[in-house]
Amino acid sequence: MRQSPDFSTLLDEARKILQTKQEPLRAICELLNAKVDHYNWVGFYFMNDETRTLEIGPYMGLKTEHTKIPYGKGICGQVANSAEIFVVDDVYEQDNYLACSLETQAEIVVPLFLNKKLIGQIDIDSNDRNPFSKKDEEFLKTLCDLIAKYPESFSSHLPE
Ligand code: SME
Repeated sequence: MRQSPDFSTLLDEARKILQTKQEPLRAICELLNAKVDHYNWVGFYFMNDETRTLEIGPYMGLKTEHTKIPYGKGICGQVANSAEIFVVDDVYEQDNYLACSLETQAEIVVPLFLNKKLIGQIDIDSNDRNPFSKKDEEFLKTLCDLIAKYPESFSSHLPE
């Protein structure tokens, strides 16, 4: 049986990364991709309200053509409009979805807020169907709140 991830240890490791590493978001993508079996693509997108597009930040996983996503398009673009967590158990059942890899079965997108303003999101693709539980949601929300406490970790990705 697959071991369930130790999210509390992962949060401790993420905090250490944010305090010490040069490119913390990239290191966090690497950590999550390496340590959680059902996280097969892990990346960040940041809002550009002027162009109304999401722009890709650090990520770990297959190269994606979706480096800029208009608000409203795909799962990520819908979260840019709703500012709410979006869990997709089966991407094949979604009409408004942008495929990154044919292996992807499921996706979770969690908004990232700075001082209550939506500034970006963490996006995770899974090659398993229906892999995400409330524990993933809680973990990723807590991770986004933690990242927001270290604005220097993402300031270079925000529009000027
Ligand atoms: N699947 C996303 C696009 C981003 S890739 O998964 C990296 C979407 O539908 O918005």
